[in-house]
Amino acid sequence: MKFDLLSLFPNYFQGPLSQSMIARAIKNGHLEINCVDIRDYCQDKHKKADDRPYGGGPGMVMMAEPISKAVRDKKTKKSRVVYLSPQGKPLDQKLAKELSKEEHLILLCGHYEGVDERVIESEVDLEVSIGDYVLTNGCLAACVLIDVVARFVPGVLGHDQSSANDSFENKRLDCPHYTRPQSFEGKEVPEVLLSGHHEKIEEWRQKVAFLQTQQKRPDLIKY
Ligand code: ADE
Repeated sequence: MKFDLLSLFPNYFQGPLSQSMIARAIKNGHLEINCVDIRDYCQDKHKKADDRPYGGGPGMVMMAEPISKAVRDKKTKKSRVVYLSPQGKPLDQKLAKELSKEEHLILLCGHYEGVDERVIESEVDLEVSIGDYVLTNGCLAACVLIDVVARFVPGVLGHDQSSANDSFENKRLDCPHYTRPQSFEGKEVPEVLLSGHHEKIEEWRQKVAFLQTQQKRPDLIKY
């Protein structure tokens, strides 16, 4: 799966994309991620990508032209253009799974007060929010989206089963996990997990996941 990340801070992504699972997925060829500097598409010699808002008010607005040029340069028939913004569709596991089926996502990161509305109308297929709060820019949101979507791309996780029992799959939270040592500061690993009885272990995991959901996120359970 290919991502083009369009932003004013292409270096922003160096940390998150060079670590852990995402770095490995890039190395193995499961993901291709390109960071594109929107300023490279600016007309003037000062590379001005933002301007004051019509109607007044604080902050700056990203200009339509450099963005539309950048998007059009990267777009093919197989691309889907996503704009990260607090006004977008809330990102959840379902949306992430859907997006993981795309071949190519162009992620547009807003800065300052956002982007000129006309470029959203003409170039953007989907607006996505990562939560009901406002970040200083869309770069972090794009990192979150890539991370969540990548987990559904075959081959990115150790084995393809790994996302099946995640929290929020089947509308419930994940069960608790334990590893060595068997006893830690007087707390023991639940007996059943040591039994080697796979059916009983599975039954226990499902029961505890349900109880945990009821306690921590009752809103997920539909009675
Ligand atoms: N940009 C600023 N805030 C955001 C949010 N909550 N989600 C996505 N993009 C954003």
